[in-house]
Amino acid sequence: MNLIIVEDYEALSLAGADWLIEAIQELPDAAIVAATGNTPIGMYIELAQRRFRGLVDTSRLRVFQLDAYLGLAPNDRRALFSWTRRSFIEPLGITEANVVRLAGDAPDPWEACRAYDAAVRAVGGFDISVLGLGPNGHLGFNEPPSPPDARTRLVDLTPESIVSNARYWGGEEQVPPKALTCGMDLLLAARRTLLLASGVHKHQILHRMVKGPQTPEVPASYLQSAPNVTILVDRAAWEGA
Ligand code: PGA
Repeated sequence: MNLIIVEDYEALSLAGADWLIEAIQELPDAAIVAATGNTPIGMYIELAQRRFRGLVDTSRLRVFQLDAYLGLAPNDRRALFSWTRRSFIEPLGITEANVVRLAGDAPDPWEACRAYDAAVRAVGGFDISVLGLGPNGHLGFNEPPSPPDARTRLVDLTPESIVSNARYWGGEEQVPPKALTCGMDLLLAARRTLLLASGVHKHQILHRMVKGPQTPEVPASYLQSAPNVTILVDRAAWEGA
């Protein structure tokens, strides 16, 4: 893993945009899985601004949704697909024909997982994976314990994820308890990965991910043996102060 430590969140967003633009310039029609969450927001805004300045063409990317709450329609504001649309798909000028959803609202969620898995395999896997780090070490909603061969599937959220997502839902009891997630198998096979972590609250889990044993209890720890992984963090996350 290539670890990059920058001063603060702003520097992280700029460095992340640099990384992404280099990857997109090498492969303008890359298959990309793009995380939601707070951490990548600044990087996505920076990327969109550079697109508007004509510095990069993002419109040919093929975008795959990383995770989805069970039972929410894609146009529900709280659905993670809505989040991806607002923060990534629309500002980057990507047409919905080039977007693969993980359909949390499908009548048969397992069938939706199989369809998603088949769609990723049909394009030869992810060229680019952009991930955040869950406070419990999850990637997407691959909650602990998740082994490295865990497939795209329906999962129960852990209490930690429910607490962490309560801020978006107005209370823990409002957070849907189940979700669909892109599998560990697909994420770990991505040809290049950027994981972002910012803030003191990520300090402990970041060190377990980077230096701890590779274990299903910290799903992100398997990135230690994935190809071409960049871990981009700010000083607060790295130093814990
Ligand atoms: P965050 O979420 O970027 O909002 O901290 C990360 C995650 O839970 O994967």
